[in-house]
Amino acid sequence: MAKPHSLGETLSFFGRWVRNPFLIGAVAPSSAGLARGMSKPVDPAAPGWVIELGGGTGKMTQGALDRGIDPARLLTIEKDPDLYRLLVDRFPDVTIVNGDATEVANIAAAHGASPVKSVISGLPLIGMPIDIRRAIVSGVFQILEPGGAFVQFTYTMVSPVHPTILDELNLTGEWVERIWWNLPPARVWVYRRRDEAASGAGGAAG
Ligand SMILES: C[S@@+](CC[C@H](N)C(=O)[O-])C[C@H]1O[C@@H](n2cnc3c(N)ncnc32)[C@H](O)[C@@H]1O
Repeated sequence: MAKPHSLGETLSFFGRWVRNPFLIGAVAPSSAGLARGMSKPVDPAAPGWVIELGGGTGKMTQGALDRGIDPARLLTIEKDPDLYRLLVDRFPDVTIVNGDATEVANIAAAHGASPVKSVISGLPLIGMPIDIRRAIVSGVFQILEPGGAFVQFTYTMVSPVHPTILDELNLTGEWVERIWWNLPPARVWVYRRRDEAASGAGGAAG
């Protein structure tokens, strides 16, 4: 089970947020409840890789492992070099990459991460410029296998993937869980290709 935040971890995360609020996007690490909610739509028994965007301090990485996702099929991308090193130390069996989520397709290919069944994202997506959001989401759906899901949380009431991007990429999204015990409270959204969602392919595992 994921450990609760230590005060030091929360303060260090908060300090990072003060220095670079747009990169970090949250004032505290994700709660264990949010980490659980993010991995719930992923079926650990299904074959294929899980890719995590914006690993941060590793709360969602731990949540993915607690869900039963195979560390040998988990690849985490983190842009901040210090957080990257923290993740490497904490999760020696997971593939951790110091890189940019806009390069997700190239990074996955370079590490042989294929097929990809799910992408879970701790990125502060909604605060990013729309071109960056488009690059990230389009990269994600380039590598997601048929039936695959993109899971993203948000602190807002609206979809963190802009409706324009949903239309351009022919995607659909729904929020599946609200996490009250998070700072701030969050919602988990799941995105799929429209044709697959309509045919009921790749439903969320319980
Ligand atoms: C909300 S925080 C991390 C949440 C994480 N689940 C946790 O609790 O620690 C967002 C993370 O995304 C990373 N990040 C922001 N933009 C990124 C990008 N373009 N590519 C990869 N990581 C990025 C930040 O460095 C930060 O660690």
